[in-house]
Amino acid sequence: MSITNLEEIRESFLEKLFMLSKEADVLNLKSDFIGKNGIVSGLLKSLKDMDPEERKSFGPKVNELKDFIQEKTSLFLNKLEVDEINEKLSHDRIDTTLTERVQVKVLKHGGYHPRTIIQQEIEDIFLSMGFDILDGPHIEDEFHNFEALNIPKDHPARDMQDTFWFHDPNSQLDVDGGGKKRLLRTHTSTIQVRGMLSRKPPFRFIAPGVVFRCERTDASHEMVFTQLEGMMVGKDISVSNLIYFMKTILREIFKKDVEVRLRPGFFPFVEPGFELDIRCLICEGRGCSVCKHIGWLELLPCGMVHPNVLKSGGIDPKEFNGFAFGLGLDRLVMMKYGIDDIRHLQSGDLRFNSQFKLY
Ligand code: PHE
Repeated sequence: MSITNLEEIRESFLEKLFMLSKEADVLNLKSDFIGKNGIVSGLLKSLKDMDPEERKSFGPKVNELKDFIQEKTSLFLNKLEVDEINEKLSHDRIDTTLTERVQVKVLKHGGYHPRTIIQQEIEDIFLSMGFDILDGPHIEDEFHNFEALNIPKDHPARDMQDTFWFHDPNSQLDVDGGGKKRLLRTHTSTIQVRGMLSRKPPFRFIAPGVVFRCERTDASHEMVFTQLEGMMVGKDISVSNLIYFMKTILREIFKKDVEVRLRPGFFPFVEPGFELDIRCLICEGRGCSVCKHIGWLELLPCGMVHPNVLKSGGIDPKEFNGFAFGLGLDRLVMMKYGIDDIRHLQSGDLRFNSQFKLY
């Protein structure tokens, strides 16, 4: 055995090592050289048969070769490991935009119906002016819908509002203990009665809610629509109080001063009764299709509460008076957002609904 042989072994080891790409093959190669029966181990074993002189010069060289193979193997194994990680990373890319995309999908949420947006805005304004917010049942009796509101039986005013009645004589709804006929409320004025009976003057409240009328539908009429009733009862309340409150909420809703006018209007539960019109906000009074070229839009019926209504509510009309109004919420929504057909509001069509403010 000569030094040249050792060099050949080293070179043959390196040559083979650099051809490999698997950990197991590297370990096998290592074992071929410095394993129990490996070439280098064989050389080490043969040292004992050499003469001392030869062993002295050859021994350290063989040991050095063994260390060399040992070190090269572990370096190479490290390199293979790093290569493997890099290889993985180049395939399994982390898509940093992915979370974003997933989030957008998850967070796609709905918005409030435009009517809800306006209703909440109006409720906030009235709450800030000391009004309560009341609610009442959709299914009502004749007392709350008509009689207490100064519309006695056979009064022609009952025909003003086409009513949905419950006719089934066996229905629980048709007869209610006292034999009252049931109906779907035709206006939120029913809550005037409930409000008066449940509190003592002075008081002020609003009552938003859906109402039902047996009518043909068209661009400006629906069978189910929304009103916002208002009532204020106290001492020495005047028409100018009524106008003040109306102008204030209209200014808040439309974010500008709104010109209003009162025309006489007939409703059995108010005296005097008015129709409050606003100067058309779309054409500023010049005339357009929305205001039917009149320049004014009929917005809310209102008036001073009729003494008979106060009496039905347990209030002495000699001591107290008040005003009431019935704002058409749908019409207000249509004006605020420029919607030309009331039926869109009830359609449930997401293409319509999603055009409004998202929360
Ligand atoms: N309840 C009436 C209607 O629906 C509106 C109204 C309310 C009028 C209050 C005057 C006062 O037509």
